[in-house]
Parts: sequence; structure tokens; C-alpha cells
Amino acid sequence: MNKNIVILGTQWGDEGKGKIVDLLTDNAQYVVRYQGGNNAGHTLFINGKKTILHLIPSGILRKGVMNIISNGVVISLDALLKEINNLIKEDIPVYERLVISSACILVLPYHIAMDIAREKMQGKKNAIGTTGKGIGPAYEDKVARRALRISDISDEINFADRLKENLEYYNFQLKNFYNSNTLDYQSILDKILFTIQSLKKIIIDSSILLKNIKNSNIIFEGAQGTFLDIDHGTYPYVTASNTTIGAVFTGSGFAPNDINYILGVVKAYSTRVGFGPFPTELFNKTGEVLLLNGNEFGSTTNRKRRTGWLDLVLIRRAIQINSISSLCITKLDILDSFEEIKICIAYRLLTNGEIIDTFPSDSNILKNIEPIYKIFPGWKQSILGIKDFSKLPKKTRSYIKYIEEFTHTPVDIISIGPDREDTIIIRNPWV
Ligand code: GDP
Ligand code: IMO
Ligand code: MG
Repeated sequence: MNKNIVILGTQWGDEGKGKIVDLLTDNAQYVVRYQGGNNAGHTLFINGKKTILHLIPSGILRKGVMNIISNGVVISLDALLKEINNLIKEDIPVYERLVISSACILVLPYHIAMDIAREKMQGKKNAIGTTGKGIGPAYEDKVARRALRISDISDEINFADRLKENLEYYNFQLKNFYNSNTLDYQSILDKILFTIQSLKKIIIDSSILLKNIKNSNIIFEGAQGTFLDIDHGTYPYVTASNTTIGAVFTGSGFAPNDINYILGVVKAYSTRVGFGPFPTELFNKTGEVLLLNGNEFGSTTNRKRRTGWLDLVLIRRAIQINSISSLCITKLDILDSFEEIKICIAYRLLTNGEIIDTFPSDSNILKNIEPIYKIFPGWKQSILGIKDFSKLPKKTRSYIKYIEEFTHTPVDIISIGPDREDTIIIRNPWV
């Protein structure tokens, strides 16, 4: 029987989604990116060779897998073409393996300029810490119904007019509110018309394609993570799209009933790039060890990621929001050297000492909580190379079992290294 699988992040992004999508494409015919843009950075390691993908789905390295960028994704044509050309240099036949929805919203240079100018004006105290890729302003245009879609380019005269109107609107703001440089209309237009020539052959109506392939094995690849979601995340320190399960359907047109399995990817500790609440954040030596051992530097911006212990209150909320069927724990190897390992199982309100075991959606409450931890003894040995769950040290198994019991959700996959091969599959999602 065929299966349609969603793989999404349960924390603040960078859980290792790309690795797991690539791994599971051994049995997939299609991989779909349905939200976000090139703010994402998904890292794949195959036999030691590293590839970072931003817009292109993580099935691109597999022969026989078709990759779809569907309507919910916002696209910088410039960034996409660069990514395609970099892969072609590595002999990946991208044009045979990738299609793009004509309904995707364009990320244009004025979105990037606005993103950067606003963050600069907010200063360190109020900035969100965006990736500076123009994602927020592009989604704003979508909601304001002035955005330009890929399909609009084919009506060149109308497209040029609307582009001019939008650019004037943003140039006014850039000049008068942000004291920033304005952008040149003709060079933006010329570049779009030039770039689209290379991409034309892979632009399609992806909602029709998806309807026709529902009986194949499809992976829907989430970008970002549950708590960066515009509705359910730690607002306003979030991205501009829905990163939770609903985005699969709005962002692709696929039917909810045709999804069979939802895999939540959980890093064995927590990280966050940019600003915003992070209850289990560590500011001590342990946090530094997680940063260095985990090589926690952003795949898109190379910024240091903030680090902390695993927060199961937060994971349990992610499971509820996304109706996650199973978990994949990644980067378990990074905990190999620890004497003791902590897991957050509740919070204490600093205002009145009350203990809560649900993740508060109110940012004001989030600012005033401290984590309550359960402490586990570390296994203090390398787990690299282990292929079978039963061969893991007993203490490692206890750590995993506790996660399953606390969340009432089975752990189906454990990742113990960056390479495709460094994985323990307890239950194969395709079976
Ligand atoms: P994504 O955005 O969710 O795809 O994750 P990123 O690629 O941004 O960040 C995850 C990082 O962890 C990448 O550098 C991966 O190569 C690496 N990684 C993934 N899984 C593992 C693992 O199990 N162990 C180790 N050591 N590294 C991993
Ligand atoms: P992947 O798919 C981690 C964060 C930014 C910032 C906030 C808003 O690799 O997991 P944006 O540029 O989207 O307006 O920034 O969201 N952010 C991510 N953090 N992983 C990502 O993607 C992210 N995409 C955006 O750091 O805090
Ligand atoms: Mg990433």
C-alpha cells in the first residue's frame, strides 16, 4: 500500500528534518516543500559529502524522486536559480527532478531590503533576528493581496505595471521611514524576465499534479519548526508562515484524509536561532558544550544557535497541534559525553510558584517561567555506528523510553550522526 508522510519540526527549526527526509526518500516517489522559503537550511550528508538545501526539497539527490515546490512556498527566483546551478555543478540533474508551482509568491529585492531595514531600525532589543531573506515582507504582500505570483510574469505588461506600483510603495518607505537606499525598477524587472527563462520549463500547476499522484509515496517536507509558526509559535518571535500541519494542505492543495503518517522531528536537546522565549536555554558551560559538540551554527546565516535542554512540555504541545503519529529523535550522539542529562517536564511560574505542565501560548507568561527538570545519568560512551535499538546502552534506551512515555508517542527513528547511514530505524514509516 502507498503512504503519504509529513515530516516536520517540533521545536524552533534545525531539528535535522533534511537528513530524515533524504533518508526516507529511499521509498518515495515525490517530496513536496509546502511553506517557508530560503530562510530554511536543510543539511544532508551522504557518504561524508555535505549539501545544504534552502528552497529545493531534500529528495533532489535521489534518482527517481520528483521534487515539488508547491503554492505555499515563497520564492526568490534569484536564490532558486543559484541553488539549482550549484547542484548542477555537482552533476545533479535538477531540471529532471524539480517542478515549481506557478502559484508561488515571488520574494523580490524590495522584500529583502525591507526585512533588513526593519530589523536594523528595531535594534538589538526589539529585532526578531530574521534570516534577512525577505520572507516576512513577502508573506505580508500575500495577505495584503498585492503580491506577485510566478504565473503573473507571463502577462508581461501587467506584471511590469504591478511591479512598478509595489516598488514605488516600498521605495517610499525605504527612503522616508528607514533612511535606506531605494531600488531600481528596470534592473529588478530585467532580472526577473531573464531568470524566468531558465525556470519556465519546470513551472506547473502543482495542485493538479498532487491530486493525480496521491496513490504514490509522497513526503511533505516541513521547514522551520512548530514554535516558529505564525499562529502557534512564540509570537512575535516567529516566522511569517504556518509551519504546523495545516500548512501542508493550504500550501499544496493536498487532501488531509490522504495523509497516513506524521513524523515529528525532535532534536535531543533544544536550539533556537534569533530572539524570543526559550525556557530551557542554558547560559553556562553546558550550553557551550552543546553548541560546540552539536556544531550549532545556522545553515542559512551561520549565526550561533542558542542551546538548552530538551523540553518535553513543548514537544507534547507540538504533538497535539500537529497530530504527530511518531517521533524521530536526532543528534542523540551529541549527548554522548554528558555526566548527566536533563529533560524539562514542567514549568514553575515565577509570579506565584504555581507548577504548570502545559506550554503557555501567552508570551508574557513565557517570560516568567522556569523549567523543572528530571535528571538522567549520561551513558558516557559513543553510540556512533550502532544500527539496532537493542544495542544502545541501557541508559540511552531509558532516555528514549522516557520520551515515549511522557509524550504517549512512539519513537520510530533515532539519528546518531549527520550521515544518512548514521540512523537507527525502530519502525520503518513506509511499512
Ligand atoms: P533542518 O533545518 O531541520 O534540516 O536541520 P539543519 O540541517 O539546519 O541542522 C541540523 C544539523 O545537524 C545539520 O548540520 C545536520 O548535518 C546535523 N545532524 C542531523 N542529524 C544529526 C545527528 O543525528 N547527529 C549529528 N551529530 N548531527 C546531525
Ligand atoms: P529550517 O527549515 C531555524 C527563524 C529566524 C528568526 C525567525 C524569523 O532550517 O529549520 P524569518 O527570516 O523566517 O522571518 O525569521 O525564524 N528561522 C529559522 N530558525 N531554522 C529555520 O529553518 C528557520 N527559518 C527561520 O532565525 O528567528
Ligand atoms: Mg535548518
